[in-house]
Amino acid sequence: MERKGKIAASVMCAGFDQIMDYVRRFEEENIEYLHVDVMDGTFVPNLAYGPDFVKRLRSLTSITIDCHFMVDRAEEKLKWFDFQPGEQVSLHYEGTCHIQKCLDYLQKKGVKAMIAINPGTPIQVLEEVADYISGVLVLNVNPGFAGQKIVPHTIEKVGRVRRLLDSLGHPEVYIEVDGNITVENAAKLYAQGADIFVAGTSSIFREGDLKELIAAKRKAIGW
Ligand code: DX5
Ligand code: ZN
Repeated sequence: MERKGKIAASVMCAGFDQIMDYVRRFEEENIEYLHVDVMDGTFVPNLAYGPDFVKRLRSLTSITIDCHFMVDRAEEKLKWFDFQPGEQVSLHYEGTCHIQKCLDYLQKKGVKAMIAINPGTPIQVLEEVADYISGVLVLNVNPGFAGQKIVPHTIEKVGRVRRLLDSLGHPEVYIEVDGNITVENAAKLYAQGADIFVAGTSSIFREGDLKELIAAKRKAIGW
């Protein structure tokens, strides 16, 4: 069966002054998601985007928000954001003591709840939450910064996640991959079963014609 991977363009990789120019180009290219990194300076050693930014961005584009929540005490901070039905929100397994409660809260609002797992997070944690998620975000780097190198075992880890989800009776739960998703890595991750590919400095936010960079990425993921 034909399987076309989707692209989630990482907003933090656009210069502050260029974000909306990029968003307009992404609309023209039918990019499926805007990947918005939320960082609190404790879960990861960096700070990024808060509720007002996400609210404003949502009001300016029809591209679906794909929010990657890298925070401690996610159960409190989630409520600061007015996530909308159809949007995607990824919560790190280690970001809250109440992961099932948070995922269930999002799903009941019609938000596509996803669990994010770091390179060192065992995939077995998915067993307890597979009934409450739409997707899994597999981190291919330790999150916090753009421009890092892939942690090699995370490529075959995606295949293990796919097989585990299938064995748990959840073939519909999709997999997103994030961090150093070059064209080459995207092709390998697509072969392992990844469905959504974050596009950052490794693929589309770099020198070259944006249309061609997007086309190269799409070609690697089943288009
Ligand atoms: C990693 C971030 C990614 C990052 C991906 O913490 O979540 O969104 O910007 O971009 P590159 O391609 O630079 O790894
Ligand atoms: Zn991210």
